[in-house]
Amino acid sequence: MWKPDRQSKKPLYQQIAEYVERRIRLGEYPPGSKLPSERKLADELHVNRSTVMQAYEELRAVGLIESSVGFGTKVIGDKWGYQPRHAPNWRIYEESGPFLPNVPFIRRVREEIRKNPTIIDFASGELSNDLFPNYFFKKVWHENPYEGHLGYDDPQGFMELRETLVDFLQKHHRIHATASSILITSGSQQSLFLITQCLLSPGDAVAIEDPSYCYSLPMFQSAGLRIFPLPVSSSGINPDDILTLHRQHRIKMIFLNPNYQNPTGTVLETNRRDKILEITAELGIPIVEDDPFSLTAFKESPPGAVKSL
Ligand SMILES: Cc1ncc(COP(=O)(O)O)c(C=O)c1O
Repeated sequence: MWKPDRQSKKPLYQQIAEYVERRIRLGEYPPGSKLPSERKLADELHVNRSTVMQAYEELRAVGLIESSVGFGTKVIGDKWGYQPRHAPNWRIYEESGPFLPNVPFIRRVREEIRKNPTIIDFASGELSNDLFPNYFFKKVWHENPYEGHLGYDDPQGFMELRETLVDFLQKHHRIHATASSILITSGSQQSLFLITQCLLSPGDAVAIEDPSYCYSLPMFQSAGLRIFPLPVSSSGINPDDILTLHRQHRIKMIFLNPNYQNPTGTVLETNRRDKILEITAELGIPIVEDDPFSLTAFKESPPGAVKSL
């Protein structure tokens, strides 16, 4: 007799839901037939009744079984009488996909913020509402309503925006760029996705700051990269750590957030930047620089982007 595996990482209720689903599929419980009561199945499998309730709830949610007062729980009977009506089981798709679910503490942060909007979210860096230039957005839109094509655009992004960014990067970050060297993405998270999927392979070694941005970590893990830490002190990472890591693991790429690093808030020291560039140029290792915060400086301006050096 089948029993749930208590050593498995999979929750008991999921194991039981899959077990019952298997038996339905095999025809052991044909459409319309009655399933064992929650209490009976719990006794058979030596689990709490609430665990079986949760398993049945999952099967009800995918439309495989239904419960009614007085009759108990039965397999859905469809009008053809052969196959149970069957919604796709998204959990199976999700588990076989490459992306890891959000870690529990990220879920917890989101949940708490949803419950109490006065909490400040330090997990991701965002402007306070009163700092958004809403008035200017409205004004610009009002004065220059866009009348162009709103369908598919150039895959690299809207040309006028890229041209504007060339000037912006030069003026605010001292970075020389051309419109054709810019790719517009949906946030830096998508650019990290493209970099990991298109330029790296599972098993490649990458170095990232420790601690680092909590939303980029799962992305690297999902891509199957081997992740090696560069500890962050009050002056940023130590350039010599790159050398040590490279000797041991052949680092393929380095991810840095040099200005107001998330989550430490530190600024990578200028002489360390020079040293890092020297080392990575010597070894031919690319640096991916994530710089969302330079322009949010309160007082003095932070050092320019590593890219500008
Ligand atoms: C280090 C870091 N990179 C990037 C981002 C922004 O990511 P995205 O542009 O995907 O929203 C944040 C936001 O908090 C961040 O802290």
